[in-house]
This record gives sequence, C-alpha cells and structure tokens, in this order.
Amino acid sequence: MIHAKGILSRDLQLEILELTRNIALRSPTFIPTTPNGNKLNCEMTSCGKYGWVSDRFGYRYTEIHPQTKEKWTEMPELISSLAKTFASMVDEYDYVPETCLINYYKKTGKLGLHQDNSEFNLKPAIISISLGDDATFLVGGNKRNDVVQEILLRSGDVFILYGESRLYFHGIKKIAPNTSDLLKNGGRLNLTIRQVK
Ligand code: SIN
Ligand code: MN
Repeated sequence: MIHAKGILSRDLQLEILELTRNIALRSPTFIPTTPNGNKLNCEMTSCGKYGWVSDRFGYRYTEIHPQTKEKWTEMPELISSLAKTFASMVDEYDYVPETCLINYYKKTGKLGLHQDNSEFNLKPAIISISLGDDATFLVGGNKRNDVVQEILLRSGDVFILYGESRLYFHGIKKIAPNTSDLLKNGGRLNLTIRQVK
C-alpha cells in the first residue's frame, strides 16, 4: 500500500470538491443499509459506469442509482485521469476507472472493517482520495483478525491499496471534527476509484 501525504494541492482539492457537489446534484447521496438491515454511518453516491450499492439483497455494483433509477453521473475527466496517473505509479498502465464511490462522513461518521471485494476483478488498485476533516483509517491484513494499524488520513492525501494489499481489511474508526476548512459544513469526503471488470 502507498500513502501519498498531501499530494493534492489545495486548488486541486477544491476542484474535486466542486465536481463531487455537481455529481451529488444528479446522483444524490443516500445512506445504504447492510444486508443485516443496519444503516451505514456514512452517506454515499457514485459516478462512472457503475455505482456501489448495499441493501438487504447484499453489496453489489449497479448501472443505475437506487433512488433516481437513472444512470450514475459520468465520471469527470479530472477524476479519471488522476486515477490513471496514480495507477501508473503502481505499474498499472491499463487501469480503467469504471466507478468512483463518494463517501461523506459527518463528524460522527465511521465505516466498519471490511474488504473491497464487490468488484468482479479483484486485481486492479483501489485509489482513495481524502478531502476535508482528518480521519483515523484502520488497515490490517487479508484476515479480519489480523493486527490493524491506525493511519491518519488528511485532506489532499491519496491512499492506494494494490498488489498484496489490494484485499486488506480497512475501515474508518473516527473523524476528527474541525481539522480542515475545505468543506464549508465540516466532515470528510472520500473518493475511491476502482476498476470493476
Ligand atoms: C472505503 O473503504 O470505502 C472508504 C475508506 C475511506 O473513507 O477512507
Ligand atoms: Mn473500502
């Protein structure tokens, strides 16, 4: 795994933030329910060919937004080209950014330990962009019970899970409120770009 700290300039962060706002206008954020019927502690939406959804039927990718029943908003060129650039840093030159999951965490937001394994192709890297308040990110190994380390993810950081780390368990333990002024109303945005097929 790679943690590129502060690699995105403030201007680039603001540009990505603006893009996510426009995406949310067409593909609104929603709070997914897990197959057990619990609500996630985070709002989500997606852009690109596919979007990640979760409900009582399980976790999966769909080509339409679960509420609007419309296609997901297309992935902005900037997000797709950044993802390809970061993928090439880990020697993935044929990377196809097919979806970008956008998570919004309020100050009490969190995300339990999980593996990213809804993709049909589990090899291509997961490229994660952090914006807004700091987060304590947990990352372990391939088994749920493996020791986890805590990593502080800050606005402008890019984190890449690839190769051996592609399926490492990870999650968000907590958000540190008021640690960034990027988002007017506070909280944290995370964008994860993935190749699905
Ligand atoms: C995720 O695992 O889907 C998001 C991780 C993060 O918010 O940094
Ligand atoms: Mn994940």
